[in-house]
Amino acid sequence: MTENVIETYSLTKKYGDFTAVDELDMSVQEGEIYGFLGPNGAGKTTTILMLMGLSVPTTGTAMVAGYDIIESSREIRTVASILPEYSSLYGELTAFQNLDYIGRLNDIPKEAREDKIGEMLEIVGMSDWRDEKFEAFSRGMKQRVCIASALIKDPKLVFLDEPTLGLDPMGTKEVRELILRLNREKGMTVVLTSHLLNEVQLTCDRVSIINKGSLVVTETLENLHKQMTGVEERNVEFKLSDVPEGLIGNLEALEGVKQVAQEDDRLYVYAGIESDYNVSKTIVDHGAVILLMRPKEYSMEEIFMKYYEEV
Ligand SMILES: Nc1ncnc2c1ncn2[C@@H]1O[C@H](COP(=O)(O)OP(=O)(O)OP(=O)(O)O)[C@@H](O)[C@H]1O
Ligand SMILES: [Mg+2]
Repeated sequence: MTENVIETYSLTKKYGDFTAVDELDMSVQEGEIYGFLGPNGAGKTTTILMLMGLSVPTTGTAMVAGYDIIESSREIRTVASILPEYSSLYGELTAFQNLDYIGRLNDIPKEAREDKIGEMLEIVGMSDWRDEKFEAFSRGMKQRVCIASALIKDPKLVFLDEPTLGLDPMGTKEVRELILRLNREKGMTVVLTSHLLNEVQLTCDRVSIINKGSLVVTETLENLHKQMTGVEERNVEFKLSDVPEGLIGNLEALEGVKQVAQEDDRLYVYAGIESDYNVSKTIVDHGAVILLMRPKEYSMEEIFMKYYEEV
């Protein structure tokens, strides 16, 4: 059985009268890459800070790697790491010096530190820049050193709060590959927030979406997609030779047809699967030729927008 590395119990954070995180119940399994998504201000960063024991919940609690976030926050930080939303390191120090400093903060003995730093710089592809100052690095290089700093204590769980923020497509791809490698080779559990839905699709095993502090959905990406495309009801795209007068009205009148929309020579018919025959027949009866007929594919954007707009 897969163990849960994170379990939250009605986790709530209020700032005065404002509820930033509202009775959140969620769980993350050991070894998965978990996408924690939601629009700006949804409560993602607030949740992550509580799970790292860096912010105290107003009510509710959570267990992270077997530790209670309120009673054992120090222990959590020995097994879990965070790449904060706007992370940075000391500009005047080199990549090596920065990591050495973080290593000391994490009580890694001097003898072990140098090897560990070498390994981390290798993993993030920054070995050649080990002795260059942090301030001289590009945004992507900085981010890679910041990720190395989060990994130096060999965490079993890492929270990456928008790790690709401000990176160009190449930098984004590198970070994505790094996340996948850490997960595969080290079995690291990753909780990731990102607004780049394509990245999420390429990286995450499961996602949850929160909006206004509440969990809207938790699913595998595959199931989210299935829910949108629906087996019983779906949107079918028809490309027609022309759209004869009266056709749309007659389609809408058919049993099982929920909605008909037109875009140029295309009709989108949202209907139950059993209506396919009558829909096609009605089109042909109006004298139009069906040039193409296929269920409409939803983009990740469309899938997420549905949930982002809910609540
Ligand atoms: N220290 C604070 N004091 C008051 N309100 C806060 C504080 N921190 C966060 N909030 C509020 O809590 C809500 C959730 O913020 P949070 O930073 O968790 O959102 P988020 O999901 O991480 O958003 P983003 O995608 O923009 O990073 C926001 O409305 C924010 O203004
Ligand atoms: Mg945030």
